[in-house]
Amino acid sequence: MRLEGETALVTGAAGGIGAATCERLAGEGARVVVADLDLHRARDLAGALDGMGVEMDVRSKASVGAAVEAAESELGPISVLVNNAGIAEDDFFSRTDEAMWDRVIAVNLRGVLAVTHAVLGGMHERGGGSIVNIASEAGRVGSQLSAVYSATKAGVIGFTKALARESARFGVRVNAVAPGPIETPMLQAAPDALGELGERFVRGMVASTAMKRPGRPEEVAAAIAYLASDDASFVTGETIGVSGGLGMM
Ligand SMILES: NC(=O)c1ccc[n+]([C@@H]2O[C@H](COP(=O)([O-])OP(=O)(O)OC[C@H]3O[C@@H](n4cnc5c(N)ncnc54)[C@H](O)[C@@H]3O)[C@@H](O)[C@H]2O)c1
Repeated sequence: MRLEGETALVTGAAGGIGAATCERLAGEGARVVVADLDLHRARDLAGALDGMGVEMDVRSKASVGAAVEAAESELGPISVLVNNAGIAEDDFFSRTDEAMWDRVIAVNLRGVLAVTHAVLGGMHERGGGSIVNIASEAGRVGSQLSAVYSATKAGVIGFTKALARESARFGVRVNAVAPGPIETPMLQAAPDALGELGERFVRGMVASTAMKRPGRPEEVAAAIAYLASDDASFVTGETIGVSGGLGMM
């Protein structure tokens, strides 16, 4: 019960890594805000966890502001923020266009900035908090068919380090997790969009891990819970790989 008394907000929380994270954080005693584009699925999960489901589109300042306000008035100040919402649109960079760049950057990078901005002031005022950003090994080693995605995740890692330096004097720690291939709907995005090429891409990612298998969402959630908790009280600005040895940074 490392998170007893904490209020944790997880974005993109209705499925995949986000849902597993909500379950883990609630299991460790946190009150959990399940924030997602999909309010129905968010509420279903929140109901099972005795938490709160809120609609949040991380691309919209108004949506983020309203969700944070509703969450804090019901469950109290947010002391743990997990920036997990992300999307993948896989293809060779030469075949992408500016509209695609904007879509991926809006969720994966700008979304992280927007939600952090909405929560950080309160953490600084109260003198404590933990932020965990979900990056990707793609942001460290680069991933074929994912140049824009890799760029956003490298951006998240840079943001994590800079914010950790700015926030330490307020008692706020900022870290990131870099998953490798994890069995969620996102891992199916490339095969769905690109057929055999996408399937080879996923097989290649799994083959690049030392452990030669994809990970489970719960294995990522365990690292997130550690970083969120006081067990990581002297850890800030770090990116922990949860990738079966894909990155080894
Ligand atoms: N699955 C993997 O292999 C993998 C690997 C490395 C990193 N990641 C990262 O982990 C995070 C979670 O990925 P996942 O695999 O669980 O994905 P997923 O597609 O299973 O779930 C993503 C969730 O985010 C929500 N979402 C999408 N756009 C949103 C928006 N604008 N605002 C709010 N919510 C939004 C979706 O509704 C969904 O519930 C992402 O940041 C992803 O980039 C995943």
